[in-house]
Amino acid sequence: MGLQLVDRHDRGKEPREFEMLGLRWHLIPQVFAPVHTDSTQLFTEWLPFPEGGTFLEVGCGAGVTAVMAALAGCSRVTAVDINPEAVRNTELNAARHGVADRIHVLHSDLYDALAPGAQFDLVFWNSNVICAPQEFVYTRPMQHAIFDRGYAAHHRYLREGLTRLTGSGRLFLGFNSLGDADRLNSLAAQCGVRLTERNRTTRRAGEVPVTFQLLEAAAIRDGRRSV
Ligand SMILES: C[S@@+](CC[C@H](N)C(=O)[O-])C[C@H]1O[C@@H](n2cnc3c(N)ncnc32)[C@H](O)[C@@H]1O
Repeated sequence: MGLQLVDRHDRGKEPREFEMLGLRWHLIPQVFAPVHTDSTQLFTEWLPFPEGGTFLEVGCGAGVTAVMAALAGCSRVTAVDINPEAVRNTELNAARHGVADRIHVLHSDLYDALAPGAQFDLVFWNSNVICAPQEFVYTRPMQHAIFDRGYAAHHRYLREGLTRLTGSGRLFLGFNSLGDADRLNSLAAQCGVRLTERNRTTRRAGEVPVTFQLLEAAAIRDGRRSV
């Protein structure tokens, strides 16, 4: 399924524009296309964007969630992606929808390009849920949208994510049934993190039913933390 999704992007068959959440969006080739599954729309609808607060979107792709956060009233949105084309795509959509002054887009591997102490009221990643084997070699940036080698990025997202939250900040992960839930839960436990499902629904992605889950990560506070 992961290889098929990458293949669809490689064939460049995505529209250059698409409609979602009542708006039209630019889509650059080799950026995760929100048109193949319902993940982008569902997570954007489910997230509790903090009005007047700050939002960090990891892996912003075409920028739908980041732009909708700004339109929903977040005072400052930071959007990062490891794929330089996704950075450009998010900038285009921020300008298209008049929120470029509130969205700061960065080329970054997870939190690397953020200021050391930067913290946010809401942190979110619609992640690359397919766990690739250790020998997997990324040959182009688009593959990062689908595959996470050994779940190293998921591990770090959870481990460092809690340190990126303000006092009342919340950390979310958009996950789905194509991912390895057992491995994710085991990595979370290693980081002293408990994952709680906040929303779930099942939709078809092509021929396959996929269950999408919005998970919230919070520190386990019983003394067993082992980061
Ligand atoms: C499933 S796509 C979601 C894109 C977009 N948020 C959406 O919902 O349409 C995952 C995104 O995470 C990005 N990504 C993967 N690994 C990353 C990393 N280590 N740091 C930053 N972004 C990453 C990918 O490039 C991709 O844009």
